[in-house]
Amino acid sequence: MNIWDNLPKPFLILAPMEGVTDIIFRQVIAHASRPDLFFTEFTNVSSYASEKGRANALERLEIAPTDSPIIAQIWGKNPEHFSETAEALASLGFSGIDLNFGCPDKHVNKAGGGAAMIKTPELAVACFQNAVNSTSLPVSIKTRLGWSDPEEFKTWLPVLLTQHPAALTVHLRTKKEMSKVLAHFELIPEIIQLRHQLSPETRLIINGDIKDRKHALEIHKQYPEIDGFMIGRGVFQNPYCFTTHTPTREELMELLKLHLDLFEKNYSRFHSYEPLKHFFKIYINNFPGAKELRAKLMETHSIEEAREVLKDA
Ligand SMILES: Cc1cc2nc3c(=O)[nH]c(=O)nc-3n(C[C@H](O)[C@H](O)[C@H](O)COP(=O)(O)O)c2cc1C
Repeated sequence: MNIWDNLPKPFLILAPMEGVTDIIFRQVIAHASRPDLFFTEFTNVSSYASEKGRANALERLEIAPTDSPIIAQIWGKNPEHFSETAEALASLGFSGIDLNFGCPDKHVNKAGGGAAMIKTPELAVACFQNAVNSTSLPVSIKTRLGWSDPEEFKTWLPVLLTQHPAALTVHLRTKKEMSKVLAHFELIPEIIQLRHQLSPETRLIINGDIKDRKHALEIHKQYPEIDGFMIGRGVFQNPYCFTTHTPTREELMELLKLHLDLFEKNYSRFHSYEPLKHFFKIYINNFPGAKELRAKLMETHSIEEAREVLKDA
């Protein structure tokens, strides 16, 4: 079964977000408002290919039963390491593999990966082909419009589309724009046209500044040729963003409790309590008294203390 043939139209995806969409957060979102498809955070192919890095890579690729269907996202610059990693992923329970050709992080780009691939299109093609030739899973790509000029999409996207990826996610910004400017929605018609001309079978997924299901459906009404939408930071504003449900204070607090429970179960892996606090704002938000409650939660030093604060609230 090819996962891309078995999704509704339009489908909604929770965007891969390093340090956010880990095995715990994905389970919370599956409970609140399931997207049609999950992606993992990105995993480095050279870590997987090395004796020293493999255990860590495998830990990042751990999935829960509620994650399914889920795509493993990988990055790197060594085509052989793409082969080795892609070959292993089918047996780990994934429905597909996505290559990250869009990450703007300076360490990732310095290592030649993520958005740096835009500057080395031949290498990008070699990595893609090696992945495709090493797996029976469908291989997709997530990228940006270009490195510095949005108009670069006119030459960069054809490089990718002529490889006929199973799906292509376009984050409507350049690497240089990071997430600082509005997504270039005005380029959607030209991107649709390119897909139509060069690879009509490739699923086109649009990403950038899409808030929730309602917003995605509005864009889809305007451009029904788009197959799917990927939502990232929208989930920070509303963990129920894949539905049209407006959560109550109680529902949001229950989600935080679920996150705490799941964190406790996986505590040996997520060693420190402090990073967990980044998630509080997602749940304790948009209801009267949220700011004060969050301030109390930020002063806690353990799951037990956080649970006490929630009980009092
Ligand atoms: C904290 C954070 C981590 C991210 N990590 C990844 C990643 O691992 N892989 C990836 O392809 N994109 C990553 N992104 C980019 C998002 O997937 C998405 O393309 C971007 O946030 C734009 O979508 P949005 O406007 O819906 O948030 C990350 C974004 C954020 C905010």
